[in-house]
Amino acid sequence: MRRLGFWLILILAIVGAWLTLPRTENRLPNDYASLTPPTNFDSVDSIAAGREIFLASCAACHGVNGNGQGAVKPTFGLKPSDFTDRTQTQRRTPQYLFWRMSEGGQSEPFRAQGSIMPAWKFQLSEQQRWQMVAYLLTLAR
Ligand code: HEC
Repeated sequence: MRRLGFWLILILAIVGAWLTLPRTENRLPNDYASLTPPTNFDSVDSIAAGREIFLASCAACHGVNGNGQGAVKPTFGLKPSDFTDRTQTQRRTPQYLFWRMSEGGQSEPFRAQGSIMPAWKFQLSEQQRWQMVAYLLTLAR
């Protein structure tokens, strides 16, 4: 009976410690979740502008075709994302893509996983980032 009590307390202690661990989920922050894409952000012109930026700034890592097979291959940490992967389409909402390209690997849990994805909010205007979203959305089609 005393042994049983010991194991019960041990299990409770482990579960308790696990519950208090910080949760770093891949969660869209509220200030990005509440954004509304500008009207016509996915016009033909906008997609073309996004493609130009992609080839100039993103293809080195994400590949010319957006399949994640660019020339820059991180030796550790996360691999550049494949935007042609259709199984990811539902997860990649416009707001999600806008968040990820704005904050890059600086936000958790990506930072802890050694992401080298740059934060583009310093280089690209909001309009340019929405153009990028429009272009990325076409890649999985
Ligand atoms: C130096 C290499 C590098 C460059 C340049 C780069 N990325 Fe990335 N990107 C990554 C890596 C590595 C990941 C995967 C890790 C992560 O999600 O943070 C990633 C992830 C992403 C994601 C998240 C995808 C998802 O489904 O979670 C988006 C969106 C993205 N990149 C867009 C871009 C855009 C747009 C550009 C150009 C303006 C760009 N990236 C340039 C390395 C790069």
